[in-house]
Amino acid sequence: MNILLLNGPNLNMLGQREPDQYGHQNLQTLVDDLTAQAESAGVSLEHFQSNAEHALIDRIHAALGNTDAIIINPGAFTHTSIALRDALLSVTIPFIEVHLSNVHARESFRHHSYFSDVAAGVILGLGPIGYSLALTAAINLPTNTK
Ligand code: DQA
Repeated sequence: MNILLLNGPNLNMLGQREPDQYGHQNLQTLVDDLTAQAESAGVSLEHFQSNAEHALIDRIHAALGNTDAIIINPGAFTHTSIALRDALLSVTIPFIEVHLSNVHARESFRHHSYFSDVAAGVILGLGPIGYSLALTAAINLPTNTK
């Protein structure tokens, strides 16, 4: 089973970026922890982070035919990107939307997501553990068999 982890803009700044919102863990250690979790579950996890919308879209297209589930934190593209939503719909790979912060407890422009209504599930407000929960959920999605 192959799972793709996607992180959108500014998530490369985790650890330094607004720690009150996003905590102190950096992206590399978050991905290392998740990779270890995937390995012990016997699944393959690939990670891609980009600050560029087109790069994320291209990576989603490249997942067609070789990926069972996607875990995505679209960052600020959550609230703006119809193009990224369309890319996910185009490959028909089930995906789980993750946010470190509780976007509903923040500015009103963060309350709308272009992804949530077409996601298999949404996890938010739990910090890095949300990624771990998303990985467990992705492995156990009803459509996926290891
Ligand atoms: C975020 C929430 C978004 O509103 C914000 O733009 C981010 C991070 C989160 O993980 O909480 O970049 O997706």
